[in-house]
Amino acid sequence: MPNKLKTAFAFTKHLFETGAFAQTSRRVEVEISKYVSSAPKTVVVELGMGHGNISRELLRQISPTSKLYCFEVNEEFCEQVKSELKDERLIIINDDAASLREHIKTPVDSFIGSIPFSFFSREKQDKIVGDAYQLLKSGCYFSQVQYTKRNYRIFQRFFDDCHLKRFINIPLEYIYHCKKV
Ligand SMILES: C[S@@+](CC[C@H](N)C(=O)[O-])C[C@H]1O[C@@H](n2cnc3c(N)ncnc32)[C@H](O)[C@@H]1O
Repeated sequence: MPNKLKTAFAFTKHLFETGAFAQTSRRVEVEISKYVSSAPKTVVVELGMGHGNISRELLRQISPTSKLYCFEVNEEFCEQVKSELKDERLIIINDDAASLREHIKTPVDSFIGSIPFSFFSREKQDKIVGDAYQLLKSGCYFSQVQYTKRNYRIFQRFFDDCHLKRFINIPLEYIYHCKKV
């Protein structure tokens, strides 16, 4: 079975966790990574790795001395990516993005997110975005993909400078690019 189809089955099986029937599009993988630096020792944190399609793009972009930390709540997804993506820069964390501060102790150059904010309580939304804002270095971005504009205001409450990019797909995909000034 082709990989994309396998991912679609796995995402649909865990719909209340994934919030999606399929992985995000190639256009999203490229757009969401656009502010990620290829400088040495860059620290990138991904929230909601899934089957690792965005993670692969991030690993393509970052330098050999950089690190990519990926949070993912689904253990099966973590095991699958671990077996398929052998890269010493990749650190997979099988935990909730809300536990960010328990795992990440260093300032972060980029946050990349595809977690389903609509499924979270207001407290959890604020915890994730607020903690990420605290960990992010000034001048750096949190880029998040969502199927709706509705969660944009969560980010606007914390971030100083936000803009949106929309892709006309089925479903629509919005990328929120949010900068800490
Ligand atoms: C819409 S899928 C996106 C997967 C992939 N990054 C992509 O772009 O297609 C969202 C992923 O976030 C994971 N997830 C959901 N809630 C999470 C949370 N609170 N912390 C970490 N991962 C979470 C889901 O299990 C799922 O793999």
